[in-house]
Amino acid sequence: MKKFLILTLILLSFSVAFSQDQDYAVVTKDDFTFSWRVVDGTMDIILEAPTTGWISVGFDPTKKMKDANYIIGSVDKNGEVTIQDNFGTGPISHKPDEKLGGVDNVANKFGEEKDGKTTLKFSIPLDSKDKFDVVLNPGKHTVILASSKSDKLTSKHNKLAKFEIEIK
Ligand code: HEM
Repeated sequence: MKKFLILTLILLSFSVAFSQDQDYAVVTKDDFTFSWRVVDGTMDIILEAPTTGWISVGFDPTKKMKDANYIIGSVDKNGEVTIQDNFGTGPISHKPDEKLGGVDNVANKFGEEKDGKTTLKFSIPLDSKDKFDVVLNPGKHTVILASSKSDKLTSKHNKLAKFEIEIK
């Protein structure tokens, strides 16, 4: 009877974990893991990379880094989480939306650093109506990922990845 109960509990916890995760599409590229799902006009994102510095995702650049919508974040030595909405102001530059006169549209910010790996979780609207974000309408979108060895959000990346996703 005890064994049966334990087995039922194990199976139950597996199915709970599965039902919470099943909506996420998971893309692994190089060292990065990018998980995403769309729920009611919002994209939920989980970003993971083996670094203790910042990690970031950018959507739809036109030239290198220009015109992309970035969400960039880090977890510092004290566990303090910073996650910021940025915009690609040039081929090799980006700035916080709030500094450009826009709005930081990132919600549900969560960050964790463990065993040399950083995980960020957050949500963004598919269409924030902010001119410093891109509209993630149905169709294909370019995703760029970057990570740095440093927590300083203005320091350069040492790793990059690029791929496409399709929003239904
Ligand atoms: C935080 C400050 C950042 C600095 C100072 C910076 C700097 C640069 C520089 C100098 C280049 C020119 C190519 C090179 O030297 O590697 C570059 C290219 C690039 N960066 Fe950044 N970057 C930053 C953040 C980001 C972020 C957050 C992303 C994406 C999430 C990103 C994605 C890219 C991509 C896709 C390229 C083009 C690579 C190529 O096609 O040659 N960068 N960046």
